[in-house]
Amino acid sequence: MLINDLEKAKSILLNNDVLAIPTETVYGMAGLIDSQKALQKIFSVKERPFFDPLIVHIDNTEKAKTMVSHWPTAAQVLTDKFWPGPLTVILPKADHINPLITSGLDSVGLRCPNHPMTLELLASLPSGVAAPSANKFGKTSPTRAADVEEEFNSAVSVLDGGPCDIGIESTVCGIFENEIIIYRPGSITATQIQECIDKNGLKLKVSYGQSPVAPGQIKHHYMPKTPIAIIKNKNQLGEGELSKYNTHIELKINPSPQIAARELYQSFRELSEKAELIFIQWQDYLDTDNFAGVKNRLLKASTYKLN
Ligand code: TXA
Ligand code: MG
Repeated sequence: MLINDLEKAKSILLNNDVLAIPTETVYGMAGLIDSQKALQKIFSVKERPFFDPLIVHIDNTEKAKTMVSHWPTAAQVLTDKFWPGPLTVILPKADHINPLITSGLDSVGLRCPNHPMTLELLASLPSGVAAPSANKFGKTSPTRAADVEEEFNSAVSVLDGGPCDIGIESTVCGIFENEIIIYRPGSITATQIQECIDKNGLKLKVSYGQSPVAPGQIKHHYMPKTPIAIIKNKNQLGEGELSKYNTHIELKINPSPQIAARELYQSFRELSEKAELIFIQWQDYLDTDNFAGVKNRLLKASTYKLN
């Protein structure tokens, strides 16, 4: 059911149920962090394995600090600069954080989303909500309320906050003593994070890396209904395995990284209905740091990579 009343949204959460919420990145499947029932329902409706930890969403840094055992200076400068916004910071967790949220890890992911309705909702709650993207595990994340409805039918209520502005999930980074590791690229780039750290006179080095539990380890993710092939030229569509598909449609990636991200998942959904195979002709600009988030999603969502 679609709703747009914040009082109703709040009562669903306080009633230990899940609620799909809008954010600037993608819609999330939210449940109160202190509700065992809601946390379990997040995993069951999403068909998500328990080894994949959830991000805690809060509306300010004061609440964020209550979720961690240590709040380093780097966390302060990064959240001052990028919150509310598409940056998730991974930090050592406070004792009270339910292990269902962290998959038993010692760390917790925190994010303050930049969406007016969700910020108001979060401000009205005593604590925070855990919210993974509101899609079935491994599938394309929703960027409109209708996408969530289509995936879950009447199983969840959806707070309709309009289409998501950014369109791909937040940048996820682990903050350590001497370094920051980006586990999942997003619209905030490594270059922007490094600049912020340097400007504040801190000495941490920013790099991309893998976490044994971060999404980087899950090979296929974000997949639409129809397979995607990344190719160099159209001749490849008639060769080898790709020749078994009778109809193809091209997904053209906009040269602006912001527009490309905003359109990406909607294109996955729309083009899936139009042909048996979606293909992307790789472009050099997709290898620049500004496109790191979009490139990561394209590589994970594609079944064939022939470029
Ligand atoms: O933009 C977003 O981040 C969206 C919106 C709804 O806020 N949320 C989202 O959540 O993308 P999800 O669960 O689909 O992806 C979060 C990823 C997980 O795949 C998980 O591996 C990683 O963040 N993560 C969460 N906590 C972690 C931790 N303690 N250590 C390492 N990775 C963690
Ligand atoms: Mg997800």
